[in-house]
Amino acid sequence: MTERMNARGLGPLEGLQPFPEGWYFVATRKSLAREKLVERTWLGEEIVAWCDDDGRICVAGAFCPHLGSHMGPTVGGVVRDGCLVCPFHGFRFDTTGQCVATPNAPAPKAARLKLYETREILGMVFAWWGAGGRAPQWELPPEPPAGAEWSGLRSHAFRFRGHPQETTENSVDLEHLGYTHGYDDVCPAGSISIEGAYLKSCFNFSNVRRIAGVKDIVSDVTSVTHVHGLGYSFVEFHEQTIGMDARLWVLATPIDGTLVEVVLVSQTHEIRKPGRFVVGLGFLPMRLRHRLMNRILLREEMRYVAQDVVIWERKRYQSPPRLCRTDGPIGKYRRYCRQFYPELRLETGVPLRERMDEAASRHLSG
Ligand code: FES
Ligand SMILES: [Fe+2]
Repeated sequence: MTERMNARGLGPLEGLQPFPEGWYFVATRKSLAREKLVERTWLGEEIVAWCDDDGRICVAGAFCPHLGSHMGPTVGGVVRDGCLVCPFHGFRFDTTGQCVATPNAPAPKAARLKLYETREILGMVFAWWGAGGRAPQWELPPEPPAGAEWSGLRSHAFRFRGHPQETTENSVDLEHLGYTHGYDDVCPAGSISIEGAYLKSCFNFSNVRRIAGVKDIVSDVTSVTHVHGLGYSFVEFHEQTIGMDARLWVLATPIDGTLVEVVLVSQTHEIRKPGRFVVGLGFLPMRLRHRLMNRILLREEMRYVAQDVVIWERKRYQSPPRLCRTDGPIGKYRRYCRQFYPELRLETGVPLRERMDEAASRHLSG
């Protein structure tokens, strides 16, 4: 009976509903400026995104309300004078989604694009995906300050068979940090806190880093992870040995119900005591120092994520998990996640798999 309900109620990808509600990364403002018009398969939907001459960004469904053509650049859609032009009959749409012109007749008022709410953080553009198309239920955090003392952003994308709930679970899975990544002395700094869609998790660790291929140093790090739904994780690192602050965004986006794309974005603060670990770095101009350190940071984080990807893409969603006492707050995390699947609530108001996860945590704490 349990097996049948599980299979029927919880959808593909081994028991995880494929599209949790939330804010998901679409593109950077820079890439929109460069490519003019971007198309994506995003949470199972075809979308396009562009930016008009006044900097207004539009993320919209890719299908034309006239006769249904896909309007992405690979089909022939273009942006002219800030408007998206459909490749089939030339209808034009402005960034409010309204059809504003056709080649030979007045624009039909009812011709409007399906729009997605957008938010922007340091040039990263996010759009809201709501269950059944519902409006945003919570907000992304305010943009963090980023003056000249911060480097520019660097990024790298991984695409693999996976799910954002599974990738985000890393933030609270402290045991794997030592076992999979080789961190030493991983130690939670207080318990995780949860407020609506916001989860905060803090821990300290140390590891040995080879900086710029020059020298192995023992690095003591404090990290604070801010999770705002399953598409937006923001990690603040403070590296105590060299006095370096850095930021890492981990932006997971479901593509088509099977694949997930995880974009890592890094940013590094000016280094206060470079002479302590790399002779010569102190002589570089600040801007180059930033850039170099940010490149090193991203490369290192890519190496860690590549270790996770090997696990993620072959794992199954384990529910209930059979936890041990040093696992970290995985049960709490899974209860936090239930809010992102409003359509899966059964008559009891609690999705089946969460009841199972809860039973597992009770068993553990009992
Ligand atoms: S289908 Fe787009 S203009 Fe006709
Ligand atoms: Fe990891």
